Amino acid sequence: MAGETILVLNGPNLNLLGLREPEIYGTDTLADIEESCLERAAELEVKVDFRQTNHEGELVAWIQEARDTAAGIVINAASLSHTSIAILDALKFAGLPVIEVHLSNIFRRDPFRHVSYVSMAATGVICGLGAQGYLLALDALWRLIQAKSVSIAVVMGLFVVFFF
Ligand code: DQA
Repeated sequence: MAGETILVLNGPNLNLLGLREPEIYGTDTLADIEESCLERAAELEVKVDFRQTNHEGELVAWIQEARDTAAGIVINAASLSHTSIAILDALKFAGLPVIEVHLSNIFRRDPFRHVSYVSMAATGVICGLGAQGYLLALDALWRLIQAKSVSIAVVMGLFVVFFF
């Protein structure tokens, strides 16, 4: 488990956090959120690779790569959550545990924000808890990854017992 990488992905306009509609998204900047994620990652003894892009294709490429390089994905695809089948398809291809995060409670907002394609590939969804949502997502992902490695170890153990 120690040394596994969790990819934390952020979509369009999240580079503007702190300046952008602070009454909705709070006053933390993305750099603040990254810093708290790195602190939590150190406590959990995992690596966090924290990224942001305003480009859908870049997010898709990062998700595709994650299949071979990461143990799980935390994603706030921002507005692309509500529109991007390409991101949904990439997440399905990655085959990793995924926690979707939104700073705001998307269900208390405009109807077009109530649908998220990302949710269809997510193991779990956290929304409405601000920056804290990212830390909760890391904790949840850590447990999922740990449970997965325990199951793999048990299966390998059974294999050894039965065949040797
Ligand atoms: C968001 C919610 C989206 O609807 C919006 O487009 C964003 C941010 C959130 O974190 O609350 O850009 O993902």
